Amino acid sequence: MTPGSSTDVLLALETSCDETAAAVTTFEGAILSSIVYSQIETHAPYGGVVPELAARRHVECIDHVARKALHDAGRTWHDVRAVAATQGPGLAGALLVGLNYGKACAYGLKVPLLLVNHLEGHMASAWMGRPEFPREAVVLVVSGGHTHLYHAQKGAHYRLLGRTQDDAAGEAYDKAAKLLGLGYPGGPLVDRLAKQGNPRAIRFPRSMGKRGSLDFSFSGLKTSLLYYLRDHADWREPGRLADIAASFQEAIVDVLVAKTLGAARRTGVQAIAVVGGVSANSRLRTRLGEECAGRDLRLSLPPMSLCTDNAAMIAAAGLEAYRTERTAGWDAESAADLSLRVDAPIGPNRADGRHGPPAA
Ligand code: KG4
Ligand code: ZN
Repeated sequence: MTPGSSTDVLLALETSCDETAAAVTTFEGAILSSIVYSQIETHAPYGGVVPELAARRHVECIDHVARKALHDAGRTWHDVRAVAATQGPGLAGALLVGLNYGKACAYGLKVPLLLVNHLEGHMASAWMGRPEFPREAVVLVVSGGHTHLYHAQKGAHYRLLGRTQDDAAGEAYDKAAKLLGLGYPGGPLVDRLAKQGNPRAIRFPRSMGKRGSLDFSFSGLKTSLLYYLRDHADWREPGRLADIAASFQEAIVDVLVAKTLGAARRTGVQAIAVVGGVSANSRLRTRLGEECAGRDLRLSLPPMSLCTDNAAMIAAAGLEAYRTERTAGWDAESAADLSLRVDAPIGPNRADGRHGPPAA
């Protein structure tokens, strides 16, 4: 499948959680526009994402966001030659909006519909603008819903090396921010406050699991923070608050760095990529930069605009689906629990909404 004209573009949509996003790219992968409308104001009063409100806000915003993406790219609907949308995983109602809007656009324009696994989108961000970065890499997907280590190999093969047994790292940040009364979303707020604190002030636990395990666990850390606040009445004092944020963050970063380096050692892979919302964390970026430089490991950290949810990464993964002719049927559905097929190449989209070859 090759589009014909130089004005041809791909329109990509992302609505898996609380960002309504659309991007327009060329078929060579150049990002012409990327619009991210973050629903912070909708959810902030509740201290976290309210799924039903997220879906309703997507309904209100998706058309406006998609049209703005086209406008900013200097294109019209007539230039759209394919539409990519996130299929899952994510919030069921939120996913429905982007997928069905995308389906309607593709059907009306008579162009292919491409469905993208949100995790593949995050993974794709490691190689965007960096085609020279090795295809074989250890990839840490670390966001509000995931803390997973993969061994990525050529041809979109992924082997799961380890995953969180309870909370995702982003979730731990968000819960800590709530306990500390910082607000939502928690990650960036803890990150900012931690810059003024001492990361060694309080020794929070680092859960490393069994020797050699590449799995994560962050629920003990959260409980430990809860007990610390209960036992220290002065925790709201500004200097102390910054120390708590810095120490809590250091405990998370220590574990993420140790396990990711452990995965590189175990696989013998010389390249590490970290993707997903938490990859925006300044301390994680600094620490990984230092550790990888010291070990001669290649490191890919996406630019900030590609760390948290966006549609440009969905476009990148969608382009891969387009090149390999993995277009979706009109009966395709979103899947809140869609998982990344591991240990096997990503196959054609199936009518039951899953990726991979049809079940026997
Ligand atoms: O990838 P993402 O936008 O959405 C999911 O797919 O989950 O990730 C959002 C998560 C939230 O938990 C947010 O608190 C966290 O990423 N996050 C951060 C930072 N920026 C976003 N965590 C730590 N430090 C940051 N600077
Ligand atoms: Zn995400």
